[in-house]
Amino acid sequence: MTAEKLIELRGLTKQYGNGEAAFLALRGVDLMIHRGEFVAIMGPSGSGKSTLMNLLGCLDTPTSGSYQFKGIEVENLNKDQRSLLRRHALGFIFQGFNLLARTSALENVELPLLYRGYSRKVRHEMAREALASVGLPDKERNTPSELSGGQQQRVAIARAIVTNPDTLFADEPTGNLDSKTTLEIMDLLHHLNSERGISIIMVTHEDEVAARARRIIHVRDGLISDDIVTR
Ligand SMILES: Nc1ncnc2c1ncn2[C@@H]1O[C@H](COP(=O)(O)OP(=O)(O)O)[C@@H](O)[C@H]1O
Ligand SMILES: [Mg+2]
Repeated sequence: MTAEKLIELRGLTKQYGNGEAAFLALRGVDLMIHRGEFVAIMGPSGSGKSTLMNLLGCLDTPTSGSYQFKGIEVENLNKDQRSLLRRHALGFIFQGFNLLARTSALENVELPLLYRGYSRKVRHEMAREALASVGLPDKERNTPSELSGGQQQRVAIARAIVTNPDTLFADEPTGNLDSKTTLEIMDLLHHLNSERGISIIMVTHEDEVAARARRIIHVRDGLISDDIVTR
C-alpha cells in the first residue's frame, strides 16, 4: 500500500513586511509528509519553524508557492473554508498550554465542540472521554492553577484531540516542562500517533524530544537543510 499524502509543499515562501523592512522568513520550502507520520522540526531560533507551523496549520497564508493538505490546494480555500479545515482536521498544542484560567479542565476540553451543534450531554461525554484518554479522568473539575504543568499540557492535548483531528501541530509542547514530565508527554503523543493514527508535526529544540519522532526535519535560514528518517 502506498502511503497517503497528507501535506505537500512546493516552493513555499513567506515574506514579512514590505520594501526596506521586507524579510523572507521561508525561502521556497518543498516538503512531503504522509498520513501517520511523526515529524520533529528543529532549527536555530529565527530559522522559520513557527512560520512554517503557522502556514501548515492554516493560521497564516504563504506569500507564494503551493500547500496541499490531503490533495486540497489550501490557497483556493476562502477564510471560512480554511477555518473549517482547521477546526475539523487539525489540532494545536502550544508551549504555554493556552488554557482558559478560571475554567475547569472539562470546560476547557469542551470549547472546540461549542459551535458544532452537539447537545450539552454529548459535549460532556466527548470531553470526559478525551480527558480519560490523556490519563486525567479525575481532574475534570480542576482549574488550570490547580494542576501541574504536565497535567495542564494533558488537558490541552485532550482539547486538541476531542474533535478527532487527522493531524496534531505542536510548537515546543514540552518547552515548559521538566525532563520527567517531558518524557510522559512524549509517551502520550507517541500513543496518539501509533494507536489512533494521528499524524504529529512538532517543533522542538530538545534532541531527546526530537529523537522520539520517526523523522527529523532541520530548518535553517528559511529552508529545510536536513530531512532524516531515523527508523
Ligand atoms: N510577524 C512577523 N513580522 C516580521 N518578522 C517576523 C514575524 N514573525 C517572524 N518574523 C521573523 O521571521 C523569522 C522566522 O521567525 P520564526 O518563524 O518565528 O522562527 P523560529 O520559530 O524558528 O524561531 C525571524 O527572523 C523573525 O524575526
Ligand atoms: Mg518559534
